[in-house]
Amino acid sequence: MKVLVVGSGGREHALCWKLAQSPEVTKLYCTPGNAGIAQIAECLSGDPLEVARSIDADFVVIGPEVPLAAGLGDQLNAERFAYFGPDQRGAQIEASKTFCKELLRKYNIPTADFEAFDTAEAAKAYLSDRDSDMPVVVKANGLAAGKGVVVATSRHEALAAVDELTNIDLTYQDAASRQIVVEECLVGDEVSLIALTDGEYVLPLVPAQDHKRIGEGDTGANTGGMGCYSPVPAFTQELYEQTVTTILEPTIQALRAEGIEYRGALYAGLMLTSTGPKVLEFNCRFGDPETEVILPRLKSDLLPLLWACANTEGDLKNVTCEWTEQAAVGVVMASRGYPAPNYQKGQVITGLKDAANTGAVVFHAGTIQRDGDIVSSGGRVLCVTALGDNFLQARQHCYAAVERIHFEGVQYRRDIGWRCL
Ligand code: AMP
Ligand code: GLY
Repeated sequence: MKVLVVGSGGREHALCWKLAQSPEVTKLYCTPGNAGIAQIAECLSGDPLEVARSIDADFVVIGPEVPLAAGLGDQLNAERFAYFGPDQRGAQIEASKTFCKELLRKYNIPTADFEAFDTAEAAKAYLSDRDSDMPVVVKANGLAAGKGVVVATSRHEALAAVDELTNIDLTYQDAASRQIVVEECLVGDEVSLIALTDGEYVLPLVPAQDHKRIGEGDTGANTGGMGCYSPVPAFTQELYEQTVTTILEPTIQALRAEGIEYRGALYAGLMLTSTGPKVLEFNCRFGDPETEVILPRLKSDLLPLLWACANTEGDLKNVTCEWTEQAAVGVVMASRGYPAPNYQKGQVITGLKDAANTGAVVFHAGTIQRDGDIVSSGGRVLCVTALGDNFLQARQHCYAAVERIHFEGVQYRRDIGWRCL
């Protein structure tokens, strides 16, 4: 089978890395890919639909949310290409916070209380009346690459957040994207639980915990994610089962009741509150860097799992999905200046082979090839993942590999997984 992966980040490198191990994949392509992906797949540039046509792809796996929200799935479907991911209507679960929140409210799926506003003025008028309910969470409705959320501890901060989020750059937008959502602030441990679904059957993967803040101890600005680990001890078997029966399954059923057959990956960002797990957000794709710790734990072939989501009616339940008991830790190595938009690029990366020789896997997130060197080209540059018999061993292996890699201005957190200690 000729498989095309769409995207260029660490998530797509992890997807390619796992798909490259599948006996069913005869040829692997990626568009646009990166310098790491180029070592295991043929990277092609251009419009993804045209790339799919040019190689006559048998299966297209769409990694990021932006092409999904823009309807790449629907376009592929119209030309009879098999693809992994929800269609444009399904992708609204991530692309429109109001779509997601209204769905959850209508079907009584646990989430924070919320109000949505068409204008900044309306949001501010609402906030001005509510002095006692701080902290409060202010969100941009559209896709903002992880930068569309402010947890405000005072009314002053909340009002400033409305102005900031009204003017934020969005990575994809439609008519409702400029709405502002104000939410109740939830407290607890955060967990990501991603499920595969064929629109009927829901197959949860192993959980992971991301570290979204740039600074150690989970401080400072929000990022796309600075590191991850799996499993998550705070997420007990009981909480896991509760999440599947009160959140994941009801959400797929709710979408179905609304006429949306949701196929692909459904990513639940959860807060483990004192009254049970609640939805912080849904994403319409695999997480990044969650995928970089989840897939190394998957013992089974990934291709049949993705294929069943896309092309069967409920057969996903019959596909083998086995996990190693080992723990995985992934540390993101980022560019100087990240997550500000003007981060440094073009730095030569050394020590990649040395790091790989430790047994760790170095996933590339933002790299390109230049004059025989691999150089940084993104805010998040690499995600280094290692397995171990337990969390501490995985973490030790991971940092041993990270320390062998260098580029000018590199920054990474030295405390990934601190909540496990
Ligand atoms: P989101 O993009 O919606 O996942 O939000 C990014 C981050 O903001 C989350 O990972 C949480 O840390 C935080 N956050 C979002 N919504 C809430 C909420 N209702 N209560 C508390 N924290 C939140
Ligand atoms: N790691 C957060 C995300 O993928 O949205």
